[in-house]
Parts: sequence; C-alpha cells; structure tokens
Amino acid sequence: MNEIQTNPQASARDSQTETNTALSSVRLFKPGVPDRQFNELRRVFPHSHFERLFKEDFRFYRTTFWYPLDREPENIFESIASSLKPLANPSPNVTGVEWWFSVLLTNETPQWILPCHFDRDDMAVAEKDVERVHHPDRASVLFLNAVPYGELVLTDQVLTEKGARPKQPRNMHFVRPSRNLYVVFPGSMYHGVIGRMWRPMRPTKLRIAMAVNWWTAPPAAAYLHDSREGTRLFHLDE
Ligand SMILES: [Fe+2]
Repeated sequence: MNEIQTNPQASARDSQTETNTALSSVRLFKPGVPDRQFNELRRVFPHSHFERLFKEDFRFYRTTFWYPLDREPENIFESIASSLKPLANPSPNVTGVEWWFSVLLTNETPQWILPCHFDRDDMAVAEKDVERVHHPDRASVLFLNAVPYGELVLTDQVLTEKGARPKQPRNMHFVRPSRNLYVVFPGSMYHGVIGRMWRPMRPTKLRIAMAVNWWTAPPAAAYLHDSREGTRLFHLDE
C-alpha cells in the first residue's frame, strides 16, 4: 500500500484547534486495495450494471450493508472491507463496517451533487438532533473510477456533543476521484460532493465509489442489510 498524502491542510498556524486536528488526520492511499481484488470487484459488479441499476432508480443510498469484522469475508465486498481495515486503522472498539455504493451523475446539477452532511447511524434522524445522532468512528471512501468534476469535499467542521464546531466550515480539502484511491477521514466530519460550477464543459459520467464506515455498534437504520445479501440485492446473481 502506498500512502500518497498526509496532513493535507495542516500548518503550525492552525494546528491548535480540535477541528483542524480533524482535517489534518485525513489520509489517502493509492492503491486502496490490491489490484487483483479491485479488478475482481469490477468484474463481479461491472460498470454497465451500475448504469443499469442507476437508470432503474435503484436506491443506492438507502441500501447499506453491515459486515461484522469478526466474521471471515464471504464475498468480494467483505474481502475489500477486510483489506481496508489496516489503512482505516479504526479504534479498537470498532466491531464492524457499514458499506454502500455511492453512485452519482456528474453533470446532474451545478455545484453540490451531494450536499454537505454529517454521516450518522440513521439518516432519518436530523443532524440538529444532537442527542440522538451517532456518527461512525471513521468514514472512508474507495473510489472506483476517475471522473471529471465530482470531488469529495472534506471540511474542518465536526459534530460534537454541543453541535457542529466551528459553526461554519473554515477550511476544506478536495479529493479528486481516481481508480482504486482510498480516503479515510473522521466519522464526525462535515463533507459532500461538488460538481461543475457552471455549464457542463466535460462529458457526463457516472461517479462510483464504495463508502465504508467504521462503527462501534451497528447503525440503527431500517435500510441496513446483512452484508451477505449484497449479491442478491444488487441483482448480481441473475
Ligand atoms: Fe457521507
């Protein structure tokens, strides 16, 4: 594994605050998983199949999976999660991962393709409901393809017991999607996906990434499935 960049925004000037500590802990790895494993994922779940499901309005963001890390991998998705664990380096209390595919059309809207948000255990719970919101220990994304536009935007704002701090993001780090690039960031971090700023000047592409969140306990969301169900729910066995 080759760690390509660390401490992207850290500086002596802003290293004192809790929030900038969060941004300075962002890590990027390329390759994220061994090439053979990455190719196996692309073979099992071809690009054309993502396109087909996307056209059918498949609810990618409401189809998430739980893989308990004390179980041996039983499919390619679980093998990838296992491979990523040493890179994500989650806390010892983490018991499993929630994973899903993030699938977005690059030219669908100007500016935010996926508006900034905090990941939480049940996206039906509002971000402002601080008492009920739980966030993952670590959040991470394995990019499947390079696309024009579609940078992941990580901010220095984190969710604390008192709410979001700082009250407005002050600093940002942009990650350009590329094949088998893996990015790890704090699970409490405010983030989103930004697209074109104006008219589309580059071709429209499907931006595909595997999101992997590291949790101390399974999220409460009703749309969370057992990870062994991935093949069936994505209709990969037909
Ligand atoms: Fe997210």
